[in-house]
Amino acid sequence: MSPVADAKVIKQDKIAPGHFRLYLFAPEIAEAAKPGQFVHVRCGHTSDPLLRRPVSIHAVDREKGKVILFYRVAGKGTSLLSKNNRGDTISLLGPLGHGFSIPSRHARIFVVAGGIGIAPLYFFLQEIADSGTSADVFLGAATEKQLFFMNEIKESGHRVFPSTDDGSTGYHGTVTGLFEEYLRKSDNQSGPIRRGDDAKVYGCGPYGMLKRLTDIITTAGITGEVSLEERMGCGVGACLSCACKTRSGENGVQYRRACVEGPVFPAKEVVWE
Ligand SMILES: Cc1cc2nc3c(=O)[nH]c(=O)nc-3n(C[C@H](O)[C@H](O)[C@H](O)COP(=O)(O)OP(=O)(O)OC[C@H]3O[C@@H](n4cnc5c(N)ncnc54)[C@H](O)[C@@H]3O)c2cc1C
Ligand code: FES
Repeated sequence: MSPVADAKVIKQDKIAPGHFRLYLFAPEIAEAAKPGQFVHVRCGHTSDPLLRRPVSIHAVDREKGKVILFYRVAGKGTSLLSKNNRGDTISLLGPLGHGFSIPSRHARIFVVAGGIGIAPLYFFLQEIADSGTSADVFLGAATEKQLFFMNEIKESGHRVFPSTDDGSTGYHGTVTGLFEEYLRKSDNQSGPIRRGDDAKVYGCGPYGMLKRLTDIITTAGITGEVSLEERMGCGVGACLSCACKTRSGENGVQYRRACVEGPVFPAKEVVWE
């Protein structure tokens, strides 16, 4: 069973309306966390909401024992979370779940993030940068102001390709449209990827975006991993509320728990409905 920790709030920054970065002192979780894992957060101090809320580990500072979360206020739980200030205590359960695989140093890495989906991928990008690997990062948002952490990601050595739904900056359209166009162009160059190359795509974002991303990479013959945001109850494999339909063997279907076997799954194993 994973540990419960009472984490002290170091600070909470409002990044944009309804979007917060929360810095917590939780050394054991910081030490153990891997990109793609999450913490189950007790958002309030009463029995309402009763259930914890899953939030990805956005970054860690292992030396200083910090765990950083990046979240969007969606409802009651995250709204209560946003009221915490320096010195408050928040109960965390974690790190939980199965995260992203760490690619080989020679692989071509493509990261595709939609909206708040950058939360866990930021941690992944920091970890691979620390081991000397850089990625091409496709970052999508509704509008320019919601393209979070673009400069920080560039500063850690990655290339960033932005897209916005309203065309305020970068590619005008969806992040999957941008990625598809990039792959199409790359067919005509000596460069980016060819079928059979050691290339891998990592995605996180809304369900429809991940479904489309899976179609694109399947057609291009590239493997990928996606992080699914299922509704969760217990977070530790007991209640089955996070069951996802996945492929098993030739034609078989198997339900797997996003909180234990996921939230990251090989894209080709997810049965998109
Ligand atoms: C593994 C995992 C990691 C996550 N990481 C992050 C993160 O890093 N940052 C972040 O902002 N959010 C993240 N989420 C989503 C986050 O858990 C929900 O936004 C949160 O639980 C909403 O709780 P609430 O009480 O504020 O809202 P509720 O009152 O419970 O719900 C408000 C609205 O949000 C929707 N919602 C609730 N839970 C989810 C969910 N799991 N996925 C999608 N929509 C949901 C509801 O359908 C409803 O419309 C993650 C979810 C999972 C499963
Ligand atoms: S949330 Fe209970 S089994 Fe996954």
